[in-house]
Amino acid sequence: MVDTNDEWITSRTGIKERRILKGENQGTSVIGAGAVKGLLENTGTDARDIDLIICATVTPDMVFPATANLIADKVGAINSFSFDISDACSGFLYALSIGSQFIETGKYKKIIIVGADKMSAIVDYTDRSTCIIFGDGGGAVLLEPTTEELGIMDSILHADGSGAPYLHMKAGGSARPATIETLTAREHYAFQEGSTVFKFAVTNMAEVSARIMAKNNLTAADVDWLVPHQANKRIIDATANRMGVGPEKVMLNIEKYGNTTAGTLPLCLWDYESQLKKGDNIILAAFGGGFTWGSVYLKWGYDPK
Ligand code: UT7
Repeated sequence: MVDTNDEWITSRTGIKERRILKGENQGTSVIGAGAVKGLLENTGTDARDIDLIICATVTPDMVFPATANLIADKVGAINSFSFDISDACSGFLYALSIGSQFIETGKYKKIIIVGADKMSAIVDYTDRSTCIIFGDGGGAVLLEPTTEELGIMDSILHADGSGAPYLHMKAGGSARPATIETLTAREHYAFQEGSTVFKFAVTNMAEVSARIMAKNNLTAADVDWLVPHQANKRIIDATANRMGVGPEKVMLNIEKYGNTTAGTLPLCLWDYESQLKKGDNIILAAFGGGFTWGSVYLKWGYDPK
């Protein structure tokens, strides 16, 4: 499709494969609903007991209604309310932090956080600087109350809208609704100034991850896992180095899925779930469009089945 090669892609990004959702009228809710159905089954949860579904995505099925509404309908979560979070690659962290607040206040008992994106819907497959990076995918987690010292312990979240020029979609929103001109100018695709985003990502993802460790008196030895946003293996390595965490503690699956935006973090948890133990200290970190970035410190809630 474009002038590129496997050596360039692998050495610059770490990506080997990407997943593409096929079929007519198949949006992000299909990915999200698939993840939620698996989650309900694995946890033995009745969909009617779900209080809230939050979906982090930048590729909603439609501008409205929220993709979370569509997911709730698809899985039969008829007693839940639901909404979307649009914060690009940091969306899952933001949604996790919001969901945990509702649990901590005692207001709700079962909250599902989905991170999912059908990036193929907004990727320009004639642009070699973005089309080799992004893929489709997503995952979901269930938040429940506990009296044990487990779950989400802390979060540090940031946003800086002055980063918008470097990573955005130009048209299709209220500022530039779709017209023949915007379509012809290919403005309905994700635009990224890769090297600028790279510089900000390396600095900020590493800094915020080191800061959440210091804030919670965690040494590198205390950290069992780093769960980094899977945008570029070089950014992941820089974050792990700054934290002093060895590669054996870093969740890495970018080679299988590429960058699935809001999907990367729950996809990592899914792939590594069998290796996680109750009480593991886990640092999640992300950087992405906005700019948005942040880190969440959590203690894993259960032993592998
Ligand atoms: O998840 C949201 C946040 N996003 C990120 O964190 C992504 C951050 N950015 C990146 O990961 C990297 O910037 C990219 C992987 C997107 C690009 O890697 P880079 O090392 O920053 O490359 P570059 O954009 O500086 O381009 C270097 C060269 C250019 O050629 P010249 O001008 O040096 O002749 C590009 O035209 O590589 C060229 N190039 C390619 N060559 C082969 C760009 N894309 C490709 C390609 N195949 N696919």
